[in-house]
Amino acid sequence: MVNTILMGMQWGDEGKGKDVDILSNEHDVVVRYQGGGNAGHTVVIGDKKYALHLIPSGILSGRLNIIGNNVVVNPFNLLNEINDLSEKGIKVTPENLRISERAHLTLLYNVRLDEATGKKVGTTGRGIGPTYEDKIRRTGIRMCDLSDLNGLEEKVRKNLDVVNHMLRFNCSPVLSLEEVMEGLPEAAEKIIPFIQQNIGSLILKHNGSLLYEGAQGTFLDVDHGTYPFVTSSNPTIGGAYTGTGVFIEFDRRIGILKSYTTRVGNGPFPTEQGNDVGERLRERGGEFGTTTGRPRRCGWLDLFASQYSVMVNGINEISVTKLDVLDEEETIRVCVGYELNGREINFDDFSPVRMDKYAPVYEEIPGWKKDISNVRKQEDLPEETLNYLSFVQEYLKVSVVRVGVGQRRDQTITLNL
Ligand code: IMP
Repeated sequence: MVNTILMGMQWGDEGKGKDVDILSNEHDVVVRYQGGGNAGHTVVIGDKKYALHLIPSGILSGRLNIIGNNVVVNPFNLLNEINDLSEKGIKVTPENLRISERAHLTLLYNVRLDEATGKKVGTTGRGIGPTYEDKIRRTGIRMCDLSDLNGLEEKVRKNLDVVNHMLRFNCSPVLSLEEVMEGLPEAAEKIIPFIQQNIGSLILKHNGSLLYEGAQGTFLDVDHGTYPFVTSSNPTIGGAYTGTGVFIEFDRRIGILKSYTTRVGNGPFPTEQGNDVGERLRERGGEFGTTTGRPRRCGWLDLFASQYSVMVNGINEISVTKLDVLDEEETIRVCVGYELNGREINFDDFSPVRMDKYAPVYEEIPGWKKDISNVRKQEDLPEETLNYLSFVQEYLKVSVVRVGVGQRRDQTITLNL
């Protein structure tokens, strides 16, 4: 058995859900270590579609699922997700879901503040940033606070003094203590059985069969991404450690790389195609946010930037997703370099800080112009498709081990290039 971590190599929405779902069958435990309800993993099993936001995808394959201390949890959204799953026949119980008592709670005021202040970045509006702000400001409300509702209420009362100033400053309606507390005692009662004091020791018990599921992607990382147009946590490998509080050696560090690039929200995106190419990718790829429904910005695959994800995360396997989306392209462009002020830059000088100033240098690869969504074996893939995948593998110097050719679990091909 092995420990595996799976991370997005771009700006999120790489299609990690399917890979996690497939891999969870080979592991006993699935762990979420950062982010919150801003994530949206879509998993299609048979004719059923599951949109998961907080609960790890291992819930669909009957695994034990752990939510780490650096995940931020909106208690009401968590309960809604549990209910939705139960309506689709998936039972979520304290036996298959454990939540760190140090995970922070997203409350109504965090959501309102995000709505009032998140427009510049184009956040998901789920209160994620403001919850992490409270955490760093040391005024956050955590899972452990749910068992002392009087103490929790006192903390909320104090926070509201500051929050209401900020809301007023942003011309948003202020909130009362009653509004914020509404429904919390009932929610607390339901959530308390899921809370775990020491998730580190629980994780260690399953060492050798762990699957860590990153949310968002490397370039949305608050430290390594296109700051300030980032999320407020570390989707990169370091987040796996701070987000759970235990050291694990990951044998497989899988990077999920969509065969083209998308991003939602604002911020630099060198290979963006604000034209008919982008339009085609969006339509064919169904590139509309799982969490917000927003149309995603679309562009060509950026291998130059992806080298950075390989470096930051120590990626030793790559899974390419949604390759069928490129089926109709005559010629596929791939970014293999960046120019700054007319001069090609060296990777040693690359930094996400200047990503808005870089001009992409493209390599053109012939398209395959065939429907590959029914292909299940490497040898049945068109030669041009194999060339494209080999190009990615050779450029990044990391094995491409799997490729997705459709949304369903079975639309996946194992590769040995
Ligand atoms: P926040 O995480 O809601 O604060 O949003 C910050 C930035 O991260 C915005 O550009 C969001 O669109 C982006 N973002 C957050 N979660 C995801 C995700 O799961 N996929 C893609 N982008 C995301």
